[in-house]
Amino acid sequence: MIIAVDGPAASGKGTLAKALAAQYGLRHLDTGALYRAVARDVMAASGDLDDPAAIAETARHLDPETIDDPGLRKPGVGEAASIVAKHAPVREALLAFQRDFARRPPGAVLDGRDIGTVVCPDADIKLFVTASAEARAERRHRELAAADASIDYDSVLAEIRRRDARDSERAAAPLKPAADAHLLDTTNLDIEAAFKAAIELIEAAKSP
Ligand code: DC
Repeated sequence: MIIAVDGPAASGKGTLAKALAAQYGLRHLDTGALYRAVARDVMAASGDLDDPAAIAETARHLDPETIDDPGLRKPGVGEAASIVAKHAPVREALLAFQRDFARRPPGAVLDGRDIGTVVCPDADIKLFVTASAEARAERRHRELAAADASIDYDSVLAEIRRRDARDSERAAAPLKPAADAHLLDTTNLDIEAAFKAAIELIEAAKSP
């Protein structure tokens, strides 16, 4: 079984995808971490986030073992990832890895922006997880402020809005629900309630 979980920044899709993978005995891939890791590697090398050919080369040499690096969660890396992710050659360089991961038995849950539309258009179930920008900024701010109390809510909200715009308006694999995706709005749901709602959608889709 392949489950695609797409949605904007800080929608809760990563936590949800991990919980669904545990529930159904599937492997989990956070595809945002691939783009974050490419951004990290580019920043450590040339630092030029707008050179598609050079970034695609970095993406081709990405070591997938390094995508658990906690440094990828730092403020700023998400935005850099969103910039490198605009470039079609960079996306192309990461495509085969994602598809191979999804196809390997017993299947997988992948979360990202274009899983249901581009990476796994034949996924068994597609969820598109949303929440208001304010609710997402509150969640992200709470996480970041635990490590650094000086981070303010308004700058987190501004970054989320910038990323939403860049990820949805780009030409290459923009953030959007697949035509056959189930929408899950988590603005007023905690993680347990979102998990329960996702399971209900999946079970309903599985039964003939
Ligand atoms: O899910 P995330 O916030 O960790 O993703 C970081 C950035 O990576 C996101 O702003 C856009 C890009 N991304 C993408 O373009 N396609 C994906 N499948 C996953 C992430």
